Amino acid sequence: MPHRLLRAALALVVAVASVSCQAQISATPPPVRAQNGMVVAAEENAAQAGVEVMRAGGNAVDAAVATGFALAVTYPIAGNIGGGGFMVIRFPDGTATTFDYRETAPALATRDMFLDSTGTYMPDVARRGALASGTPGSVAGLLLAHERYGRLPLAEVIAPAIRLAEGYALSREQADRFNAYRDRLQVFESTARYFAPADSFAAGQTFRQRDLARVLERIRDRGRDGFYRGETADLLVAQMEASGGLISHEDLAAYQAVEREPLYGSYRGHRVISMPPPSSGGVALIQLLRSVEPYDLGAMGLNSSASIHLMGEAMRRVYADRAEWLGDPDFTPVPVESLTATDYVRQRMADVNPYRADTSRAVTYGNPLAGESMETTHYSVVDADGLAVSTTTTINGGYGSYLVVDGAGFFLNNEMDDFAAAPGVPNMFGLLGSEANAVAPGKRMLSSMTPTIVEDPDGELFLVIGSPGGARIITTVFQVITNVIDHGLDIQAAVSAPRIHHQWFPDVMYAERHALSEDTERALRQRGWSVREGGRWSRADGIVVSVETAETADDPSGLTDRQTVVRRRTLLGGADPRGQDVAVGY
Ligand code: DON
Repeated sequence: MPHRLLRAALALVVAVASVSCQAQISATPPPVRAQNGMVVAAEENAAQAGVEVMRAGGNAVDAAVATGFALAVTYPIAGNIGGGGFMVIRFPDGTATTFDYRETAPALATRDMFLDSTGTYMPDVARRGALASGTPGSVAGLLLAHERYGRLPLAEVIAPAIRLAEGYALSREQADRFNAYRDRLQVFESTARYFAPADSFAAGQTFRQRDLARVLERIRDRGRDGFYRGETADLLVAQMEASGGLISHEDLAAYQAVEREPLYGSYRGHRVISMPPPSSGGVALIQLLRSVEPYDLGAMGLNSSASIHLMGEAMRRVYADRAEWLGDPDFTPVPVESLTATDYVRQRMADVNPYRADTSRAVTYGNPLAGESMETTHYSVVDADGLAVSTTTTINGGYGSYLVVDGAGFFLNNEMDDFAAAPGVPNMFGLLGSEANAVAPGKRMLSSMTPTIVEDPDGELFLVIGSPGGARIITTVFQVITNVIDHGLDIQAAVSAPRIHHQWFPDVMYAERHALSEDTERALRQRGWSVREGGRWSRADGIVVSVETAETADDPSGLTDRQTVVRRRTLLGGADPRGQDVAVGY
């Protein structure tokens, strides 16, 4: 159906924004405000570490690196040195860059390593224990970003993490989280030693991680060699050998983080800066934004049946493309430009029926060439100069592979499950993949992490955003952006608002608790959507930059009649209420 007709038809549909959803949004507190710098992250000590470093003269990259190392100490369910991540940076002059420190498959990894002799997928092998881990990239990535763009010496930036590893007081939530995972953290001896001691954890207890502090000191003193070679590498390889894993000294020494050109897109005059492959996040986010751009989402209403129908059909098509085309660009050509081209995306949306949901069986990927608990964590940082950093990092599932390196005290990732074990076999997020994302030695597994920075229509820094949530990361970031730009929500309300999600397969429209009014749910079912409501997911942490300009009455010197324009930047932080996330500013 031509877009004009689809637009008109969607406008005719009564768009009733969910009453319960509106009630939720009006109950959210205002964003946290600050003038000089801000970190929004999943754990308070780690956010404070970033602010401490900025107060000491560090820039947003120093702060992001400080927060990143601190999260490995105070938020080990996802914060890590045994995993990987992506960082998007926008400099005050409007230029931007990204760092890719995604894990890689060890040299001994093979295409069918997660299939048994009958060709059946063995999910436990891909998700738990030593074979689940890719070669970690976080330390190389944080150090490379710091070396290229940080301002303070590494010793100062890593100091808060070392201090916290020597001991910090567990909050109620931190103690509860360890206790809740107790059974799973007891399976491996090395893990139990650190994270499931005889007595359960209690709020207020000082939690000491001395082996981890020594690892961090070696990184402070020897840089990447403090992790990828020497004692830490020896401990990691010994753990692999004891547990039947593949990561070798050679894998560690060969690991390289990569600085990559960002992926750029646009949405209603706002430039969008996001992560290119091996994340699918940037490509999919830009496809989603382009898919809905011709429609007036604001007029349709937040979480109305009309807007959910439209967004759902866009999500279905975008995730079908993701499954077919996306993988590590160093191994497989990814047609990024074609996939994100406006004409291609609009042509994918051309057959959306405004009255009837498609079925995912009928919608396959396009041909762009013709024309819980699950954990990851995101943090957003802006400094006094307007330097912005958007970082998402992961060990994949909560506590990754559950395997801790004995003598080093950190969790290893279970990122190998992000590869497509075989065509048609869903990974732990239900995502499908193709040959483009098959396991191969040295290859990066496809990711959904979507650290993103958005400019306002004048080209100024506007929004820093990202989220954990597995397959749901992309649709979460998409909805926070449309919540701000189309629905005019402030950043706190935008990250708090209940979300929806569709990922092609399973062919289900997921809706968070309170996302849908009864009317909206009925209207969606009438159109053919299979709706599943319940639960809450993702934790989006963002910062909006609001610039106010004021003209001073006159030249303060009194010598001329010149007026000065004063631009005052206010940072507005939105921390996701689904976790204990906080916005800390100064
Ligand atoms: O890179 C990815 O797409 C996944 N490993 C992310 C996992 C995740 O977000 C789990 N958390 N909620």
